[in-house]
Amino acid sequence: MPCGVQAGMTQGTTTYDFTGSTVLITGGGSGIGLAITQAFLAAGANVVITGRRKDKLDEALKDADPARAEAVAADVGDGQQVRDLIDQVITPFGKLDVVVSNAAGYANGPLTELDDADWESLRSANVDGFFHLAKAALPRLAESGGNLVAVSSVSGSRGDWGQAGYNATKAAVSNFVRSLALDWGPRGVRLNAVAPAFTVTDITRAVAEDDGLHAQFVNRIALGRVAQPADIAPAVLFLASSAAAYVTGAILPVDGGTSASTGQPHL
Ligand SMILES: NC(=O)c1ccc[n+]([C@@H]2O[C@H](COP(=O)([O-])OP(=O)(O)OC[C@H]3O[C@@H](n4cnc5c(N)ncnc54)[C@H](O)[C@@H]3O)[C@@H](O)[C@H]2O)c1
Repeated sequence: MPCGVQAGMTQGTTTYDFTGSTVLITGGGSGIGLAITQAFLAAGANVVITGRRKDKLDEALKDADPARAEAVAADVGDGQQVRDLIDQVITPFGKLDVVVSNAAGYANGPLTELDDADWESLRSANVDGFFHLAKAALPRLAESGGNLVAVSSVSGSRGDWGQAGYNATKAAVSNFVRSLALDWGPRGVRLNAVAPAFTVTDITRAVAEDDGLHAQFVNRIALGRVAQPADIAPAVLFLASSAAAYVTGAILPVDGGTSASTGQPHL
């Protein structure tokens, strides 16, 4: 097992111990990825984060112990850059225990108005990104007995108005996870995903700050509030930890109950 889970439970939150584990987080410099990065650092892991902008990644790690944190710029849609990235994780830390495939782009609006370049960019980050990362990392995870956690979305299992392209990419991620869990289980590698719903980050902030739209979202959430990135990170640590040693191929909703609904209006 790459990591343990401490016995104590505090206020419903288990304290995970990833001391000595090496964790790669794509898109780790902002939003949900940053919260995941901070949670793994707090749990003692060695962390490598990647994204396209080195300055943003360095800023995200400015308070971290430099011996346990590394920022490597890479475009996950580029296979060679991802293969080089995996080598750059292995070189300082000697192994790779956990991969968090979180980086993604977002687009909304009618499909007929999504131009080819926008679709290409979305597919490259979200689908090609997962493909390249999994292909390069899985053999390394088999060596370490490690695991992969993807940040998919509730939008990966159902439709949303005006988001056909994005939802298709997230469905691809969720089904990569399920199918690869079958292929790699016999080699001791687990793959799982979290599926958040609306979470306040740069890509959704404008909606969160629009009182009318915000109220429409909250009305569909059983727990009565939209998520913050810190609501998502603990579920990622759970799936990556030995507490989830018998969990693979799972797409875990972390959505305040959003996906428990049939989608019919709240009367
Ligand atoms: N915010 C939400 O409501 C929500 C809901 C469900 C799922 N998600 C998923 O959560 C994940 C994180 O999104 P977020 O909301 O934190 O947004 P975000 O924009 O803050 O994070 C996305 C990160 O991915 C990086 N990235 C994008 N394309 C990349 C590429 N080609 N190569 C390398 N890095 C790239 C960005 O630089 C950024 O750091 C995504 O997978 C997103 O689909 C978000």
